[in-house]
Amino acid sequence: MSERMKCERLQDKVMTADEAALLVKDGMTVATSGFTPAGYPKAVPLAVAKRAENGEQIGLTLITGASVGDELDGAWARAGVTKRRYPYQTNSFTRNAINDGKIAYADLHLSQTAFYMKMGYFGKIDLAIVEACEIDEKGHIYPTTSGGIANVAVDCADKVIIEVNAAQSLKLKGIHDVYSPKKPPNTEPIPIVTPKDRIGVPYIECPAEKIAAIVLTDIPDGDAQSSPADADQVQMAQNLITFLKGEVAKGRMGNNLMPLQSGVGTVANAVLGELAKSDFEHLTIYTEVLQDAVLDLMDAGKVDFASTTALTLSKNGKKHFYENIDQYIDKIVIRPSELSNNPEVIRRLSLIGMNTAIECDIYGNVNSTHIGGTRLMNGIGGSGDFARNSGLVVFFTASTAKEGTVSSIVPYVTHIDHTEHDVHVIVTEQGVADLRGLSPVERANAIINNCAHPKFRPELQAYLEKALSTSKYKHIPHCMSEVFEGK
Ligand code: COA
Repeated sequence: MSERMKCERLQDKVMTADEAALLVKDGMTVATSGFTPAGYPKAVPLAVAKRAENGEQIGLTLITGASVGDELDGAWARAGVTKRRYPYQTNSFTRNAINDGKIAYADLHLSQTAFYMKMGYFGKIDLAIVEACEIDEKGHIYPTTSGGIANVAVDCADKVIIEVNAAQSLKLKGIHDVYSPKKPPNTEPIPIVTPKDRIGVPYIECPAEKIAAIVLTDIPDGDAQSSPADADQVQMAQNLITFLKGEVAKGRMGNNLMPLQSGVGTVANAVLGELAKSDFEHLTIYTEVLQDAVLDLMDAGKVDFASTTALTLSKNGKKHFYENIDQYIDKIVIRPSELSNNPEVIRRLSLIGMNTAIECDIYGNVNSTHIGGTRLMNGIGGSGDFARNSGLVVFFTASTAKEGTVSSIVPYVTHIDHTEHDVHVIVTEQGVADLRGLSPVERANAIINNCAHPKFRPELQAYLEKALSTSKYKHIPHCMSEVFEGK
C-alpha cells in the first residue's frame, strides 16, 4: 500500500490515470478541487484531454473554485473538452474559446459556487475530481494547496476520483479547516469572529461507495506569475499606505488596521510589500489568495495570521515556503472558498478589501472584467464578494493603459462589475479619491482631480461640465449620446 494511501478498504480503487479517465463520459458535469494554480487535479484531466485529442467525443461542463492550472483549464480548452465553464478562469486558451463563443461561460461570485452546487442550480454534478496529499486509515481525504469547492464537490457529486499527489507536502495535513454551512432553510451563523478561528475539521469525508478511483500521481502545481512592481504600482501602494495612516489617525481603525484582503497580481504584492516597510503591525489577513508578499510580511514580523483558500505562490515563493514551512504552518489556515469569500464573515470582520479595476468611471462604477465592454479578461472572481461586503472597499488602477494612450478613468465604464454603491476608495498612481459620503458630482470631481492622469483631466472635466449644463437631471448627469455613440 502507498504511504500516502493508507486506507485498506479503498485499496481496490487504486488505478492509473488513464483507467480513471475512462470514468469521464461525454456530457458530464465535473467539479474539481483547485483555486489558482494550486491544489487542482492534473493527471486525470491530462488523460481525459489525451482521449479527446485521439478523436473521442468528450464535451464537459467544468466547475472549479476559481482559475486552475494549465493541466486542467488549458489542456481541456485546447482539446475542445470544456463546453461550459463556471465560475472564473485566467487561462488564455479558455479565455479565447469563451471570447470566440466556443465555451459557454457564466461569471459568478466565487462565494456562490458551492451554494449553486448544493442547491442544484448547476443541475446534477456527475463527478468530482479532487487532489489530496494523503488518504488516511479512516479514509479521510487531506486536501493540498487550496480549499476551493473540493469539499462541496465531493458532497454533491455522484462519483469521486481522488488524485493522491506525492509532489504535495505532507506538512499540509492539518492546515485546512473544512466546514460547509447547512442548506437553507437550516442555515446557521458561521462562527468565525477572527481570521484565526477554526470551525471545522482538517480533512474531507466521503463515503467509500462514492469513491470510483484513486490515482497516485506526482505532478507539481503550476507556479503563480510573479513580476516586480513597476514605479506606478509602488506609487499606488504608497498612496494607499498614506491613506490608511489617515484612517488610523481618525480613529477608524487601530495600528493593526482591519483584516486585509488583497487580490491577485502585482499591485496586490506591491501593496503588501509596502506594508512590510510601514509602521503597521500585528496585521491579519482574511483573503482568497495568499501570495508571496504575505510570507515576506510574516518574515518581517508584521502579519500574525492569514486565512486563505489558496497558497498562490511563485516558484521562488514555494521554495521559501517549503524550506521554512514549520515557521508558517501555525500562522495559516486554508478554508473552502465558501468561507474565505463568505459575505457574512467578510462583513463581520469588516475587512479592508483591495482589488484591481480595468477602468473606473467618474461616478465610481468599476469594470474589472471586460476590456472595451466586450472582451472578457478573467471574470469577477472574488472581487464582488469582497467589494460588496468589506468595511473599506478599495480599487486600484493605473490612471492610464496601453502605454499611456488610454485613460482608465472614463465618463462611463463600458461594463459594470462593482457599482458606485459599493466602491469606497479609488487609488491610482496619481492619488486617492475617498468617495464615502460624497454625492455623484462630488465623486466625479474627486476622481478626476485626484486619480485621473493630468493629461486626461481637462477632457473629463469638460465632459462633467457639459453633462451638468445639458442634463435635465443633475444627480448623475451624463451626455448619453457621447457615451453610447462615441460623439
Ligand atoms: N482600457 C483598455 N484596456 C485596458 C485597460 C483600460 N483602461 N486597463 C487594462 N487594460 C488591458 C491591458 O492592456 C491588458 O491587455 P492585454 O492582455 O491585451 O495586454 C489587460 O487589460 C490586463 O491589464 P493588466 O494591467 O495586465 O491587468 P492586471 O494583471 O493588473 O489585472 C484585472 C487586472 C482587473 C484584469 C484583474 O485584477 C482581474 O481579473 N480582476 C478580477 C478578479 C479579481 O479581482 N479577483 C479578486 C481577487 S483574487
